[in-house]
Amino acid sequence: MNDVRDKWNRIYSKDQLAGPPAAVLTDNDNILPTLGIALDLACGLGANSLFLAARGLEVDAWDISQVAVSHLAKRADSHGLNIHTRVIDITAEALPMERYDLVITSHYLDRSLPPAILGATRPGGLICYQTFTAEKQINMGPSNPSFLLQPKELESFVPDCEILAFKDESHNTNRDDPLAGRAFIIARKSIG
Ligand SMILES: C[S@@+](CC[C@H](N)C(=O)[O-])C[C@H]1O[C@@H](n2cnc3c(N)ncnc32)[C@H](O)[C@@H]1O
Repeated sequence: MNDVRDKWNRIYSKDQLAGPPAAVLTDNDNILPTLGIALDLACGLGANSLFLAARGLEVDAWDISQVAVSHLAKRADSHGLNIHTRVIDITAEALPMERYDLVITSHYLDRSLPPAILGATRPGGLICYQTFTAEKQINMGPSNPSFLLQPKELESFVPDCEILAFKDESHNTNRDDPLAGRAFIIARKSIG
């Protein structure tokens, strides 16, 4: 795991500009909460955290990279945003039960996490995923198939949930489109 940490610390030491928040959030802002607690898993420089906190949510922002997390913490502080950063090697065991009104995971795929993410979401809360697909036709994102979504895989991460939004842009090759080669889903955890 130190290799992963070192790799991302190196990347964030060179590039400290948070890009735009994930399209799964910006394209669906009409259905996102403006109150409550969110978790941004593998937050990187925290574009999703900054977006959600600016909407009024309290945000837990977790990432393995100390460099990314300290940069986000400074930015949150200077903007007076309610973001609690944590440097952590994310595992299923680290996730609490039924704490969050929204969990966002973008451009990070660890197949041991979806059941714990569902568990960490409050009944009625939202689970948001976005990342690259195995069917992508654009030379962006990971090439290792372990980090690419299989067809129908996103739906399998949110069993017994109501699907509120879904998009698969695997065939989109427009490099200027923030969803090219990616898919997203937003699901509401059932209350019953
Ligand atoms: C491609 S970046 C995505 C960042 C952000 N979510 C986004 O969409 O821009 C992947 C992130 O996963 C983090 N990461 C990788 N392995 C991790 C682990 N085991 N635990 C926590 N974070 C991890 C990296 O530090 C990096 O910030």
